[in-house]
Amino acid sequence: MERGKLNFMLNEVKLFLNFNDRDLVRLKRIHPTIKPLIPQIVGFVIKRIGANPKLVSVIENYPIPVEAARTVFENWLDQIFTSKYDADFARRTYEIAVAHEKAGINPKYVTMAMGTFILAIDFIVSKMVGQKDTLYAFSLSIKKAMLLNLTLMTQSYEEIKRDRIIQSLEHV
Ligand code: HEM
Repeated sequence: MERGKLNFMLNEVKLFLNFNDRDLVRLKRIHPTIKPLIPQIVGFVIKRIGANPKLVSVIENYPIPVEAARTVFENWLDQIFTSKYDADFARRTYEIAVAHEKAGINPKYVTMAMGTFILAIDFIVSKMVGQKDTLYAFSLSIKKAMLLNLTLMTQSYEEIKRDRIIQSLEHV
């Protein structure tokens, strides 16, 4: 997909969610605290995926060692806190959607996995010791970042589907 369109998609979501520089600062500040907890958060999401028979069969048809899947998730979650949320980020998110679409993963599972990430992070932040307002602000920025990722990912799925239809029409 062209860079211009990806940028348009990204800016629209940022504007809608009011995802701004303050969110970027908060994500960077909470990163060192969250980092050691990332394996625990990912472990929780992988457990949910493993409990779904349909997803287990996808993984069986598309064998990825559990450790590799864990590392993919951990690296992805880490970049939630360090990303610049710029054009390169939008491109990377689009590529992740392409990989999922190729693997035949229905977008509803990505939505559910993202929801599970949000629930797990929310739980962890709720257990942190600190000023209530500050913790709320951190939690808000994390949720905005996750929703931004989810929206771009699902929209990328739509764009991939649309491009495929257009391509198939070229042969008519
Ligand atoms: C929050 C939701 C999810 C995130 C952030 C995520 C992240 C990623 C990333 C970063 C990649 C690597 C893409 C690349 O190589 O460019 C990937 C690939 C993949 N993911 Fe996900 N994923 C999510 C949900 C799921 C779910 C629910 C499944 C279901 C089993 C799944 C299965 C896969 C598979 C099969 C691949 C392809 C692996 C390969 O090409 O070797 N993902 N995912």
